[in-house]
Amino acid sequence: MDRKLMFSSYNNAWCTPQPFFDELNKEFNFTLDPCATPTSAKCKKFYTPTEDGLVQDWGGETVFVNPPYGRQIKKWVKKCYEESQKPNTSVVILMPSRTDTSYFHDYIYSKAEVRFIRGRITFWDMDSEKFKQGDFSGMTPAPFPSMLVIYRSKEVQMPPKITYKGKSYTIEHALDVGLIILWYKDKEGCHYRWVI
Ligand SMILES: C[S@@+](CC[C@H](N)C(=O)[O-])C[C@H]1O[C@@H](n2cnc3c(N)ncnc32)[C@H](O)[C@@H]1O
Repeated sequence: MDRKLMFSSYNNAWCTPQPFFDELNKEFNFTLDPCATPTSAKCKKFYTPTEDGLVQDWGGETVFVNPPYGRQIKKWVKKCYEESQKPNTSVVILMPSRTDTSYFHDYIYSKAEVRFIRGRITFWDMDSEKFKQGDFSGMTPAPFPSMLVIYRSKEVQMPPKITYKGKSYTIEHALDVGLIILWYKDKEGCHYRWVI
């Protein structure tokens, strides 16, 4: 691979395979891809290195992030965490599973849902001539494991425990003893009520 291309910010060597994205998109309905090029973008709304996704506002979006690899990944993970704290904002990151890094401990561990991917993903090199000609032969799985990091919008999270008449219930326990939870979302956020 051309080294200049590899280290340029427009490097599309580690693109998300479309079928992998499509499956995940069924669950999340993504609205923004903040790190992309017009060729590799996974959503209608996207940012390229020229617009710089790192300085944009992601508030109110459901964001899919397959960040540029290398040292800059730390900045992207921090940005993902910070943006996910905004109202009505969810962020899902597809990234190498490196649980010993400072950014994993600072922004992911115990702050996000993590799904470790079984096996290795064969990423798409969308800039390669072979790929452009539709030749998928010789593509090999990544030399690293991957994970999905999920920051769900606060507005759509069920509280882990609810207090009713001074007693604390987990959702499972409440259902066991016959309490029904009415849960709905509107402009003001997420609401829940007990129905006996
Ligand atoms: C791993 S690829 C992912 C591409 C695509 N989003 C996908 O999931 O297949 C990372 C992408 O980030 C883009 N990129 C690098 N720096 C960026 C920046 N500061 N702002 C927006 N995009 C950037 C690269 O051009 C590249 O397309």
